[in-house]
Order: sequence, then structure tokens, then C-alpha cells
Amino acid sequence: MKTQVAIIGAGPAGLLLSQRLDLEGVDNIVLESQSREHVLSRIRAGVLEWGSVEVLRESGVGDRMNAEGHLHDGTDIVWSGTNRLTLNTRVYADRPMMAYGQTNITEDLYAARDAAGQPIVHEVEEVVLHDLESTPSVTFSKNGRVERIDCEFVAGCDGFHGVSRSSIPPTQRREFEKVYPFGWLGILSETPPIDEIVYANSERGFALCSQRNPMLSRYYVQCALDTNLDDWPDDRFWEELKARFPSEIADSIITGPSIEKSIAPLRSYVSEPMRWGRLFLAGDAAHIVPPTGAKGLNLAISDVFYLARALSRFFNHHDDRYLESYSDMALRRVWGAARFSWWLTLLLHRFPDQGPFDLRAQEQELDYLSTSEAYMRSVCEQYAGLPFES
Ligand code: APR
Ligand code: PHB
Repeated sequence: MKTQVAIIGAGPAGLLLSQRLDLEGVDNIVLESQSREHVLSRIRAGVLEWGSVEVLRESGVGDRMNAEGHLHDGTDIVWSGTNRLTLNTRVYADRPMMAYGQTNITEDLYAARDAAGQPIVHEVEEVVLHDLESTPSVTFSKNGRVERIDCEFVAGCDGFHGVSRSSIPPTQRREFEKVYPFGWLGILSETPPIDEIVYANSERGFALCSQRNPMLSRYYVQCALDTNLDDWPDDRFWEELKARFPSEIADSIITGPSIEKSIAPLRSYVSEPMRWGRLFLAGDAAHIVPPTGAKGLNLAISDVFYLARALSRFFNHHDDRYLESYSDMALRRVWGAARFSWWLTLLLHRFPDQGPFDLRAQEQELDYLSTSEAYMRSVCEQYAGLPFES
């Protein structure tokens, strides 16, 4: 097989890149190690920055999001029992946010790829990237047969555990990592969500009320890393969630059976640079953010925005300027979001080694945020998403 761009991974980054390249007339093949059913069964975050909404719309996958996504102006933070503030991005950053689940986005992207008649090669094994500094190729096996794709570029969109990042020699890259001493225990339930997205910094730990659609709610509580799901039947989860919110919010939470329950550890990670030879990394293949602030999917979308533009300029205009600057441009936004989600994680969680001084400092920062318009504007600008570079 032969193509211009071999895309490894059919998560949001790989599918969106395929879609955008196709719209620009750039030939590509997507390889995915899992089945389509497995890819579509993953439950991930669901808050989109306005820049992401615009990228999805201009990629021709905005129809269902426009109809079913929930526009919201504000995300609330509650702390110390009765204190409450709103990060109103429409007022302080001139743009709303959109609640629309990553699972839906992936479904919409699959539908668009199907409509374009572009098959995705699923359940591939033994993916190996070759000659990334000269004339790249990718080998893999499918149904026991070894296949080979000759290509001009490889896009590594294969997530944190993929092969792409590790195909870069360790001497050619640098890793930055922070592991947090807790996780999020999350559930999905077919119950109407509360009106807003609300974060709680409570003495029992962080909690979050979020949503996917009018009949699908997403809730989280901070948990110890050694938490066992078997110890968390639904009743215990609801009780703990409600105990972390003031009563006016707790009383409005509508409970019901969970349809999914899982624990996610929190980690910040960046690998630099995001390019080596003719390999370009995008999304979780290059970086992980803790879920606080819901930046992971948004970063995958912004990487793809830059990468699709760079490849299109190269193939359609013989201009490699954006390819040369891809890593630097993408990393500026990555670090913006990595710093913001690290900061929001520190602000909202209880840490095992936190003393009385640290707690007062956290309260002071929340108090300052609720009283200083300058600080509120800065936080909302980052929460709503920093602009893309032209
Ligand atoms: N070959 C082919 N595909 C692979 C390989 C491989 N060797 N290894 C992994 N994959 C696939 C995975 O099965 C997965 O479907 O690559 C895909 C990567 O998708 P994601 O992990 O969803 O990563 P990305 O597309 O970058 O999306 C980032 O996902 O994890 C969230 O918070 C993150 O919301 C963000 C988004
Ligand atoms: C989610 O809905 O999953 C979500 C919302 C806001 C966050 C993180 C996750 O900050």
C-alpha cells in the first residue's frame, strides 16, 4: 500500500486528522489496534473549548454537536461549605463552552469517514515505524498477514501507550512528568444532570458534577490511588458525592443506577519535541493532562488543527514552513493547557501532605479569584482556551 500520510491510531486525534486531510485532498490511511466497537465504547471527558467547536464545525462534523451539545456560559466552583463562584467564560472571555462527549465526537468522525468511503484498518497488530528520517514506511499484521504502507509522513496519534513516541530515540526527546497522589472515581448515569458544571473543593476531597446530555450525567469524586471499585456500590458513591457539595446542590442531584464506573489516576506528562524526522506526534501520544479542566481532548484537536494545516500546505502549496514550526507551535498550546490543568488540580484537590498553611493558601486563592476581575479574566481566558496561532 502507498499513501501520503500514515495515521497511527483512530482516537479523536487520528480520526480528525484523517477527516481534515481528506477535505484538503491529502491521501491518508488510518491504522487502529482495537476494534471499532472498542474505540466507541470508551468514556472520556466532554467539555469543548469554543476553538474546538469551531474546528469540528469546519471539519464537517458539527451537525449533531450543534443540535445536541449543551452550550454553557459558566462553570461553578464551591468551597469551604458555602462559598461559590462562577467561571463565566462568556462574560470574561467572550466565548461560551460546549458540553458534548468525546464518545459522540468519535461517532461523528467515524460517520464522516464512512461517508467519505475511507475505511479505517482496525485490529492491526505489531505496528512498526521504519526509516522515519528518510523514506518512511509502516509495517503491521492483520489477520496473520504482514502488510506494509509506504508513505511520506507518519502521524503518531496512538495515545499514551502507542508505538509512535517510543519510535523516537530516547536521546532525541525529553520527558516532563508529574504524578498526583490520587485519582478520580467517575460514574455515568442515565439521569438528568444538574444545570451547571460544578467543581467542589471540600474537606472530604474534590468532586465534580458534569453532564453529557439531558438524560446522561457524569460525576466524579477524588479517591485514593489504591481504591477498589468493588468497594464502591452506587449508594456509597452517591452518598459521598452529595457529602462533598453544599446542600442546595446535593439536594438537586438526581441519582440512579450507574451505567459505567471507573477510576482514573491523575498525571501531567509532556514529551518534547513533537516531531522527529518525518514522524509527527499529536494528542495523547505526546502529552497527558490531568482531567481537571477537561483539556485533553481540546489539546488533541488543537494539535490536529496545526498538523493538518502544516501537511496541507506542504502537499498543496509546496510550503514546509508550518511543518518546520509544528512542534514549537503545538507545544506552546500544550504547555498552556498543561500549566492550567496542573494549577486547577492544585487549587481544587486535597493532598495527603497538605498542612493548615496550604489549606489557607488554597482558600485565599479562591477568595481572590471570586473578588478580582483581573484574575477572573485571566483564568476564564485559559479555561475557555487560548487562541490558535496563525
Ligand atoms: N497501533 C495502532 N493504534 C494504536 C496503537 C498501535 N500500536 N496503540 C494505540 N493505538 C490506538 C488506541 O487503541 C486508540 O484508539 O490509538 C488510539 C489513541 O486514541 P486516544 O487514546 O483517544 O488518544 P487521542 O486520539 O490523542 O485523543 C486524546 O483522548 O485520552 C483522551 O484525554 C484524552 O480526550 C483526550 C483524547
Ligand atoms: C467531564 O465531563 O468528564 C469533565 C468535565 C469537566 C472537567 C473534567 C471532566 O474539568
